[in-house]
Amino acid sequence: MRSLLVTNIGELVTGDPSYGEGPLGIRRRAALVIEDRRVEWIGRADYAPAADSMLNVDGAAVLPGFVDSHAHLVFAGDRAAEFSARMAGEAYTGGGIRTTVGATRAATDDQLRETAGRLRREALRQGTTTMEIKSGYGLSVADEARTLRIARELTNETTFLGAHVVPPEYAHRPDDYVSLVCGPMLAAARPYAKWIDVFCEDGAFDEDHSRAILTVGAAAGLGMRVHANQLGPGPGVRLAVEVGAASADHCTHLSDDDIAALADSRTVATLLPGAEFSTRSPYPPARALVDAGATVALATDCNPGSSFTTSMPFCIALAVREMGLTPWEAVAAATSGGAQALRLADAGRLTRGSRGDLVVLDAPSYLHLAYRPGVPLVSTVVLNGELT
Ligand code: NIG
Ligand code: FE
Repeated sequence: MRSLLVTNIGELVTGDPSYGEGPLGIRRRAALVIEDRRVEWIGRADYAPAADSMLNVDGAAVLPGFVDSHAHLVFAGDRAAEFSARMAGEAYTGGGIRTTVGATRAATDDQLRETAGRLRREALRQGTTTMEIKSGYGLSVADEARTLRIARELTNETTFLGAHVVPPEYAHRPDDYVSLVCGPMLAAARPYAKWIDVFCEDGAFDEDHSRAILTVGAAAGLGMRVHANQLGPGPGVRLAVEVGAASADHCTHLSDDDIAALADSRTVATLLPGAEFSTRSPYPPARALVDAGATVALATDCNPGSSFTTSMPFCIALAVREMGLTPWEAVAAATSGGAQALRLADAGRLTRGSRGDLVVLDAPSYLHLAYRPGVPLVSTVVLNGELT
């Protein structure tokens, strides 16, 4: 049972107001000890106990590791040309998903594993210690199962997204595709998946199909998540709340009723500003959600089409500058918000018993994450009590 002392922390963001100042529970001149992968002790640096090893951060800020609760890392191919066309005025439609499905089906397991592993390591270097990974670019029984098998090598938070779009071979038979998703595809995905997700949107899956898929997934023991209200207003958010999904993701086009429904529920509103940035779309109404009392998470949506970033600090900076959140609200959304979206009680915070996952910044305060956008401020990442 090895222990690690992290000491001389200038600003420790615990994420729990009962542990320190303000809503982020900040402590100054602090130290913490991680033992057996868990935070064991938090206190003043002057009183820090001995441990097997020590990390002296010399006055820097320390935060809980980021929890990225929405990412699509298992894919092949590149859609830089589609991005370039959008920046020249083309609209994003989601139709490009089929391009990635073709490339993913043609790739070997090792090619998919190499790309997903590289992106996971890229995210880790930027402070992401917990990452959800979805399928959704296979869309056949065998390709969804292998996508999830590869995702499971990288995280426990795996999500079956067979209902991403209707693949070309089912273009004129969407009901048959929904039956495939609910039957053999779910059965093949189930051993590797913790969650089920549906893209509920015009051009993808309608409300009835989405409800059917979520319901059968939940009956098989999977938690529910929904891609909702990304490209226009629609039933996705309402459906997510109705079925008790852990998270409604995107939430770009919300009515007042959608905001009230989220605020009145346990369903987290997961905002993905990298997608609005990369599709040149209006940002989601984060301020209105927070003011109404909804729980908000920030995630990257990392995928080759609508948001090819693994950077939670970038999402924090966008949330502050473009979506009206304060820096503390954005950091809370990127840590405890993400943990709530994944219903993880021990992630996204640094309190006794929490996971030993933390980020050391090359900065004196968490404020610098938004104040110094685009700067690689994450200097050290500790995962499960180990330096990475
Ligand atoms: O979350 N909205 C659906 N799925 C992805 C986009 C996938 C793609 O364009 O390849 C998203 O933005
Ligand atoms: Fe997505």
